[in-house]
Amino acid sequence: MQLLDGKFASEKIKLEIAAEAADFLAQHGRKPHLIAILVGNDGGSETYVASKMKNCEKVGFQSSLIRYGVEVTEEELLLKVREINNDAGVDGLIVQLPLPKHIDPEKVTEAIDHRKDVDGFHPINLGRMVRNLPCFIPATPYGILLMLKAYGIDTAGKHCVVVGRSNIVGTPMSILMARNANPGNCTVTLTHSRTTNLKELVLQADIIIAAIGKKNFITADMVKPGAIIIDVGINRETSEKTKSGYKLYGDVDFENVAPLASWITPVPGGVGLMTIVGLLRNTLASAKKEIYS
Ligand code: GUN
Repeated sequence: MQLLDGKFASEKIKLEIAAEAADFLAQHGRKPHLIAILVGNDGGSETYVASKMKNCEKVGFQSSLIRYGVEVTEEELLLKVREINNDAGVDGLIVQLPLPKHIDPEKVTEAIDHRKDVDGFHPINLGRMVRNLPCFIPATPYGILLMLKAYGIDTAGKHCVVVGRSNIVGTPMSILMARNANPGNCTVTLTHSRTTNLKELVLQADIIIAAIGKKNFITADMVKPGAIIIDVGINRETSEKTKSGYKLYGDVDFENVAPLASWITPVPGGVGLMTIVGLLRNTLASAKKEIYS
């Protein structure tokens, strides 16, 4: 078993991004700029957004955090999104999900200018991704592709089983792994909560991408020896043993599955760190007008 080390891969790519950001500053007299909007104070969202902002600063981007209380109206949020769309000094805008129930996430997602949608959630980016056209790829799927590339893993012709069909990970990941690209060119099976023969299908996988959001969902009896395992799960449980007061668990029973795997991502220290890199890469590409001119 070999580890797909998110710390190693992400630090290497962040050095490359920092060098490109320094060039951008020298050429344009400003830094690439990402704005994040955070509504409320969900513990997970607070942690993720803080990490996004911190990493922006690390690679030489400008980052701004706009906070709203849970009582903010949909209208107020949409007004802010439109204001940022028109600000030429901003390259990327993300609105952290989930949003409170009275705000329609689809409306907010579609209100973001697709040219600043560095989360890759807008239907224009999603449609362009399906067609294999230049677009912003959602940060977690993009991070997984960067991880596979960093370790030179050949995916062509392999059977990839994706577990979970979320808009953010499972669905885009299934499309990306099937595309005629590298990484890609897989035969893909997309499984979810209503799949009846899930274990049987996962057992056939050369590559398992677990994004179901359930601690230790993928067990050793579901894994073919030699499989490549990508664990997207970030399941938080309170713990008295850690400084932060919680402990993270993946969707894969790492202890028992790892001995069977050829490659496996740890949690923490795997996909989560690569997600940030995907977001940074998209923000830089937006600043450099590499996707949309
Ligand atoms: N919530 C969970 N993952 C994400 C993400 O990648 N982007 C945003 N905006 N919200 C999220």
